[in-house]
Amino acid sequence: MAKISPSILAADLSNLSREVKKVIDADLLHVDVMDGVFVPNITFGTPIMEALGRIDHPPLDVHLMIEDPGKFIAEYVQLGARNLHVHVEGNPHLHRLITSIKDLGASAFVVINPATPVQALEEILPFVDGVLVMTVNPGFTGQKFIPRASLKIERLHRLRDEQGYSYEIAVDGGVSLSNAGELVERGADILIMGAAVFRTSSPSKVIAKIREMKR
Ligand code: DX5
Ligand code: ZN
Repeated sequence: MAKISPSILAADLSNLSREVKKVIDADLLHVDVMDGVFVPNITFGTPIMEALGRIDHPPLDVHLMIEDPGKFIAEYVQLGARNLHVHVEGNPHLHRLITSIKDLGASAFVVINPATPVQALEEILPFVDGVLVMTVNPGFTGQKFIPRASLKIERLHRLRDEQGYSYEIAVDGGVSLSNAGELVERGADILIMGAAVFRTSSPSKVIAKIREMKR
């Protein structure tokens, strides 16, 4: 069964609690934290996590697209992050960052942008709980899926078998019902979906369809 993590960046933020109710059956809820420096957009941070703390929601899947994420990880875990995603790009002390996330009791995911090869992860793969493959350049919801970037899912899946690793494989950016089947076949365990969930008439139907998908 594939897991789905709807991204609230694509939701109508003027009514957060109504939007979160629509996806209450999802496996996770994806929160895109952007600082306008690491990526060309500013979204939200701890105030949204605090607001989520006052309503029912799926476990939080927090994607940090910020400079120096190490400064904030303890706060995000304390506010309920189950998964923390940090990029290989721009994080020179990635091993320390991943270890600190795990020591805080959260799951540590490493993220690669479309232009970063799987080889860049070689030394960190034994330590991570998950790998997130970006299939758009991070910054915005509703961008066009980059097919070539999704080939990395297959490589990561093969490597996991060959090396006996246990990380989960997630994919983020331009994922929709039309490419989800192929992504799951390639080896994706978690599909992060923004526009394809929140900008449709029935988010719960999309969630149910993804969760039925088997490799
Ligand atoms: C992109 C974000 C994604 C985004 C996905 O920078 O990391 O999580 O919200 O949105 P869609 O699925 O619409 O591409
Ligand atoms: Zn994201």
